[in-house]
Amino acid sequence: MATGLGIRQSEVHERVLANGPNGSIVKMGELEFPPRKVWMKTFGCQMNYHDSERILSHLKDLNFFQTDELNEADLVLFNTCAVRDLANSKFYGQLAELKQLKKSKGGLVIGVGGCVAQTEGKELVKRYQHLDFAFGPDVIDCINDMVYRTYAGDSKFAINSWDRSDNFSIETKITHGLPQAFINIIKGCDKYCSYCIVPYTRGKEKSRKLQEVVTDARKLVEYQGIQEITLLGQNVNSYGKENKETLAALLGELDQIRGLELIRYTTSHPYDVSDELIAAHGSLKKLSKHLHLPVQSGSNSVLERMLREYSVEHYLNLLAKLRKVQPEIVITTDIIVGFVNETEAEFQDTLKLLDMAQFDFSYSYVYSQRNHTRSAKMDDTLTAEIKGERLRYLQKYQLDIQQKLRQSLIGQRFLMLVEGHGNMRGIKKWRGRTSCNRIVHFIPQTEDADYQWHWVEVEVTSATSLSCQGKLLRDYGKRPPHLWRTYGEQLPPLVGDSGPAVDQSCPTITPL
Ligand code: SAH
Ligand code: SF4
Ligand code: F3S
Repeated sequence: MATGLGIRQSEVHERVLANGPNGSIVKMGELEFPPRKVWMKTFGCQMNYHDSERILSHLKDLNFFQTDELNEADLVLFNTCAVRDLANSKFYGQLAELKQLKKSKGGLVIGVGGCVAQTEGKELVKRYQHLDFAFGPDVIDCINDMVYRTYAGDSKFAINSWDRSDNFSIETKITHGLPQAFINIIKGCDKYCSYCIVPYTRGKEKSRKLQEVVTDARKLVEYQGIQEITLLGQNVNSYGKENKETLAALLGELDQIRGLELIRYTTSHPYDVSDELIAAHGSLKKLSKHLHLPVQSGSNSVLERMLREYSVEHYLNLLAKLRKVQPEIVITTDIIVGFVNETEAEFQDTLKLLDMAQFDFSYSYVYSQRNHTRSAKMDDTLTAEIKGERLRYLQKYQLDIQQKLRQSLIGQRFLMLVEGHGNMRGIKKWRGRTSCNRIVHFIPQTEDADYQWHWVEVEVTSATSLSCQGKLLRDYGKRPPHLWRTYGEQLPPLVGDSGPAVDQSCPTITPL
């Protein structure tokens, strides 16, 4: 167990004690934990969502099970994001609302984790009487000890210490039973882009050793039936620097794992896209044909003020090289509009970049001033109105590009893993995500057909700037197509009048 966290060091490991009338009781230290319910709200990036998954997995060991009903909860947790003001204020609003619930429900425990808790945890605990504890992202593996402390009657506390070990070493901890898993391979960020709070909330960059990640992935595939993994980090392609290892080498090893079908990774920084990584996109069979590569701005002077360490020309050259080795690769990006004193000409340069880059999708935000960061110290003369106007204009501009781009998808056929279903204007539709990270919706053959986690082939029949509609061509069930071929079995039949077989002829189908 981590030390120096102000956590009790006595006998605090969980163990199942006995079966009580309401299920098993877990004993930790001198306390007994009957089955309880935890409600959790997560803000922010995929790292935070993955952290929440890890927290919930730990809490299961202490007899806490997740509920979607806030009123049923014994423990309420927030996993917060500090990257922009909007996520911040939503969280503060929801935390304030819990005051009443805490009053009416004796024994309710409330904790706040994540990036806001890392920098503001002590003030939060002071300011909000009904908050029991706060903890930063680097101590999530001690969640059970923190919950224990609260149940043991300790006074309110905030823990934001950094893990001081030289190596980042963990094992993925999931219990969700789904075929998709996130794997943390690097934490923290050393880039210090002038607008960004992440280095202050997530600390210094540290990578897991390559062999540890490969063993972790292998176990997930063998013992938990994982078919698709997403490697995670704030700057994932800077992976391995301190151990003289690289993301490209890691991807190469993962590509060899039998039973693993698809590998994604996010998020990348353009400065760290190496030629070796570009080559991997051309050669690795299981690597997703998608790269999220945040550019932030199309103006070199803005990129300089942002301390991004690359130019527009360098960025476009990366795209050209990637598209050369993998013509089907889909590029998405992040844009910040209205960065400190952005001129109209600088803004126009970003629009020009959108034309040149032809992004499949873009997340765009108005610049939000964050405490601690370098750009917070710059005098900013841009008004909120101009920033808002530019964001709206840019978003419309990008949507028009996407609309045109996606028309070319009509008639194309894709293999994808089905992730869920929903109702679209009263019609039940299932949806999956292609290797190139596009969502395609399709109508089931029969109302009650269940395609959850099936591999299916679809043909795109219409596309808007944000989504694709398709028709189902073939349903492989939960077994990916190459396994049907490996065992020499006949492929499942085509659905309805889908035309000729597509699995060999279709270039957009991932060759698994
Ligand atoms: N590590 C990733 C992304 C980090 S945060 C990267 O380097 O690209 C996700 C996105 O939030 C960023 O890409 C950026 O577009 C946006 N962002 C970060 N700080 C911001 C700020 N202060 N104001 C507005 N957007 C911000
Ligand atoms: Fe923030 Fe820049 Fe690090 Fe991304 S690379 S997390 S934008 S400091
Ligand atoms: Fe937000 Fe922290 Fe992620 S600030 S974007 S939750 S690393």
